[in-house]
Amino acid sequence: MSFVLLGSLLAAGTTSANANEKTPGMNTSKLLNVAHRGASGHAPEHTIPSYKLGEEMKGDYIEVDLQMTKDGTLIAMHDETVDRTTNGTGLVKDYTLEQIKALDAGSWFNDKYPEKADPAYEGIQVPTLEEVIQTFGTGARYYIETKSPDVYPGMEEELLRILNKYNLTGVNERSSKVLIQSFSQESLLKMHNLNPNLPLIQLISYKEPATISEDELQELSEYAVGVGMSASKIDQTYVQNVRNAGLLIHPYTVNDKEEMKRLLDWGVTGMFTNYPDLLNDVLHGK
Ligand code: G3P
Ligand code: CA
Repeated sequence: MSFVLLGSLLAAGTTSANANEKTPGMNTSKLLNVAHRGASGHAPEHTIPSYKLGEEMKGDYIEVDLQMTKDGTLIAMHDETVDRTTNGTGLVKDYTLEQIKALDAGSWFNDKYPEKADPAYEGIQVPTLEEVIQTFGTGARYYIETKSPDVYPGMEEELLRILNKYNLTGVNERSSKVLIQSFSQESLLKMHNLNPNLPLIQLISYKEPATISEDELQELSEYAVGVGMSASKIDQTYVQNVRNAGLLIHPYTVNDKEEMKRLLDWGVTGMFTNYPDLLNDVLHGK
């Protein structure tokens, strides 16, 4: 891992104070249950039924991956192409919103997981970010990822426009209804420059067992309140190093109860799961 962009991308006028210094009293004791793409182990990912199940199953956050249509609308979808999770083919950026809305975002799930199939999933639409927020309101919390930001110039500005429209931003991690995550440091720094109060989570992709240095933690702390990475790449030392730096740590994607328990023992502050019902059980000692 290398974070080399910070010096050039932290804009003049925004402070480089430790992000956590801006969040006094930040609650790191609450263990966050993040419904990954909704309760996507039970229902088609990034659809309203999946998000509703995530809420019903006591997820603290609805996770929303963002892609952007040809005509500039932010939609909830993981992949840059529509192929895997709809009946269409091709790149999202080549689709207008009207064309995206004509796709079936649920039948693939019924075909792939007949034991979990539900006729209600047939023909459901890809939701826009605004539709998700309008459906779940400001009582919900959203864990939003800027996907492929290099493909979608302006996606950060559009995201912030929507967050402001619905009053979802707060002065710190506790008051904000959103956490913003990305593998792209450049995208997060852009968000930080647009609104230094936004709580940001730096996602990190490791190919080998993960380590993290003091310098890296210091750099992350300049703009982020936490980090996320594959649960399979970390150990207790890594978790404790992150926690000792005052950062949140939310590994993904954890679908096994024993792994959930192990990560909690190591000191993680939450995790992404396709099964928020399982994590809720674990958090309640079941
Ligand atoms: O955002 C956490 C995790 O979702 C990152 O992986 O590929 O599922 O978006 P991915
Ligand atoms: Ca994600």
